[in-house]
Amino acid sequence: MESKHQENGMMSSQRFENPEAAMFSVFKLTVLFLIARIGSVASQGEQVSFTYNGFTGSNLKLDGLAQITSKGLLLLTNTTRQQKGHAFYNDPIHFLYPSSSSSSSGATSVFSFSTTFVFAIIPPYPDLSGHGIAFVIAPTKGLPGALPSQYLGLFNESNVGNSTNHVFAVELDTIQSKEFNDINDNHVGIDINGLTSVASIPVTYLDKNGRSENLSLFSGHAMQVWVNYDGVHKYLNVSIAPIGDPKPAPLLSRSLDLFPVMKETMFVGFSSATGSVLTSHCVLGWSFKVNGQAEDLNLSQLPKLPKRGPKKRSPLMTIGLPVIAVVLVLVSVFGIQSIVKRKRKFAEVLEEWELDYGPHRFKYKDLYMATNGFKQKELLGIGGFGRVYRGVLPSSKIEVAVKKVSHESRQGMKEFVAEIVSIGQLRHRNLVTLLGYCRRKGELLLVYEFMPNGSLDKYLFDPFMPVLDWVQRFRIIRGVASALFYLHEEWEQVVIHRDVKSSNVLLDGEMNARLGDFGLARLYDHGSDPQTTHIVGTLGYLAPELSRTGKANPSTDVFAFGAFILEVACGRRPIEPIASAEDLVLVDRVFSCWSRGMVLDTVDPKLGINYAAKEMELVLELGLLCSNCIPTGRPTMRQVVQYLEGELPLPELSTLSLNVGGVTYVGSDQGFDDFAMSYPSSLGKRSTQSTSVSESILSGGR
Ligand SMILES: *[C@@H]1O[C@H](CO)[C@@H](O)[C@H](O)[C@H]1NC(C)=O
Ligand SMILES: *[C@@H]1O[C@H](CO)[C@@H](O)[C@H](O)[C@H]1NC(C)=O
Ligand SMILES: *[C@@H]1O[C@H](CO)[C@@H](O)[C@H](O)[C@H]1NC(C)=O
Ligand SMILES: *[C@@H]1O[C@H](CO)[C@@H](O)[C@H](O)[C@H]1NC(C)=O
Ligand SMILES: *[C@@H]1O[C@H](CO)[C@@H](O)[C@H](O)[C@H]1NC(C)=O
Ligand SMILES: *[C@@H]1O[C@H](CO)[C@@H](O)[C@H](O)[C@H]1NC(C)=O
Ligand SMILES: *[C@@H]1O[C@H](CO)[C@@H](O)[C@H](O)[C@H]1NC(C)=O
Repeated sequence: MESKHQENGMMSSQRFENPEAAMFSVFKLTVLFLIARIGSVASQGEQVSFTYNGFTGSNLKLDGLAQITSKGLLLLTNTTRQQKGHAFYNDPIHFLYPSSSSSSSGATSVFSFSTTFVFAIIPPYPDLSGHGIAFVIAPTKGLPGALPSQYLGLFNESNVGNSTNHVFAVELDTIQSKEFNDINDNHVGIDINGLTSVASIPVTYLDKNGRSENLSLFSGHAMQVWVNYDGVHKYLNVSIAPIGDPKPAPLLSRSLDLFPVMKETMFVGFSSATGSVLTSHCVLGWSFKVNGQAEDLNLSQLPKLPKRGPKKRSPLMTIGLPVIAVVLVLVSVFGIQSIVKRKRKFAEVLEEWELDYGPHRFKYKDLYMATNGFKQKELLGIGGFGRVYRGVLPSSKIEVAVKKVSHESRQGMKEFVAEIVSIGQLRHRNLVTLLGYCRRKGELLLVYEFMPNGSLDKYLFDPFMPVLDWVQRFRIIRGVASALFYLHEEWEQVVIHRDVKSSNVLLDGEMNARLGDFGLARLYDHGSDPQTTHIVGTLGYLAPELSRTGKANPSTDVFAFGAFILEVACGRRPIEPIASAEDLVLVDRVFSCWSRGMVLDTVDPKLGINYAAKEMELVLELGLLCSNCIPTGRPTMRQVVQYLEGELPLPELSTLSLNVGGVTYVGSDQGFDDFAMSYPSSLGKRSTQSTSVSESILSGGR
């Protein structure tokens, strides 16, 4: 007759003696009654049980705020004010059975029952909570008309304390309600038909060392409660412990007869209520059994608690979150900074008028990549106006030399860039090709063909470099002459180089001379007056009239060329500060030796006797010829090329016609070291004669 009903987890397969069915017929009722009487002793063993380790698929009736989350957590209330929530086992349970002792008396007993559940109360603030949770045995599923707050969803003002309620509850109360004589705001109480507990006790538990510890019901941590009622001895035990701890000795232990409360069938469940504090009350697992010990919950199967309220966060949240937030902020700040930095790093100046020069315009980023970020390692040298870096263009893999020229003003830039672009069109085997340019704030970058063997002056003056033989030197001289002739006469515009000197003569892979750095010289059209206001060049190569008139013209280039070829032949700088007074100026010395018929005494001692005397004499005499103080006394570059190629004999030189010497070099001693002159630091030390026209253009002065 009696059956064992086992329900576990999601499974719900309870079968009951159906009282409704019994009411179908008096006969059936009578039979049942008789059977119940006969089997009264046996009926004490009636077992209804269920175990929910999480409530997914559970046989519960919910009302109010109560809900079961997708994770299987039973949320009796969520964070909504002044609300209640109920969850009741859906099927009625028989708690009463007729006592066997005196069947005629009709005396009835209450079945023993046992329940255990895991709950958590998650308050928004550590020391403030909603009202609590109650385990309830009630005559109805849900408690219609009950109030939230201090009524715990169990009663209302009119029925509270009325014995007609037939409500038994174990309250886990987290608010001290004076009207119901609550002992504190953290107690367990036994309620019969009302909220004034028949017994209550502050929540404590015995820790591992046997000491009594306060246990906060609304700590936000899960706790387990055991409620056991002994129907025979009419005794109720309530135990409570933090989840994971074994069942402790009863916290509340009391003799209690539940018979007056119980009806024939009752419903078991939970009730919970919020007040003005937004509290979540949840139940993680529940096991119940009539007439026996409730099955243990499997704690590892219980659902996880939802995230805590703002103040009840774990150390990870309280420390980790700000740290993560700070890290995120820093990362994004650095990210933005680096983007801005990158943008700024590669920022260029590009004006509308430059759009026509597209092919000549390089991206700064490409030049930056090409030179490994203008690394010191890639520095080829520091020349007039700026530093030169070696680089390999990322896309074309072409080797280039990038010259960085500082400039402050944008004035005159348009003309200057126009010149650069125009110069970029110059093509001659003895000229370094200007590939293009790039403009940045305060900076101009000129991109040249890369010359693997560097500049000529190294070979002439650096004792650690191989000595160039005469054949190489003569070829270099003719190459430079050819380049200057091209600039002066063969191209559509007259290009004055303005800074012919050995450090501006570069050597390609085959040791061909390539005249460079003319990107910084000025151009003027055929026939028009040359610029008169600015002087470019290097002391020792400057024609004397330049200091007076400031007029650069092809003949001033010829003068510089003269100084240059004497330099190559004699292996000496045009002005050697360490030499004796009379040897100070190279051209003076050559002239003096020449006038004594001993011009070959001036030949670079490093050459020894390994040179063609005729060529040497030609070069030395041509050097003197080009060094004529009177511009009209100098040959043109066309003539120079003809002399060098032997197409034209050098005219007879006379001491008078040469007009060499007596040149007064204006300038300080520091100015003598031409190749060490670097812009802008040495600019102030340079003589007025060597002020660069290009610098003037760059700085906007015209
Ligand atoms: C609380 O639950 C109720 C009913 O399920 C729902 O309408 C409400 O949005 C929930 N509130 C919060 C804050 O989750
Ligand atoms: C109080 O509760 C009872 C039973 O749940 C109900 O019948 C009654 O109407 C309620 N009274 C009020 C005032 O809500
Ligand atoms: C209890 O409730 C019943 C009806 O619900 C009512 O008649 C009775 O007066 C109430 N008793 C008390 C003490 O409130
Ligand atoms: C426990 O709580 C009581 C009352 O709130 C307090 O007096 C006592 O000091 C607490 N004990 C501990 C160990 O915190
Ligand atoms: C209640 O607790 C007492 C003391 O631990 C124990 O002797 C008794 O058997 C318990 N009763 C039930 C029903 O658990
Ligand atoms: C509890 O559940 C886990 C995982 O589902 C299972 O491995 C374990 O055997 C269970 N323990 C008991 C006592 O049933
Ligand atoms: C000039 O450069 C070429 C190619 O880089 C190299 O093979 C040669 O040795 C260099 N000559 C001198 C004298 O450095």
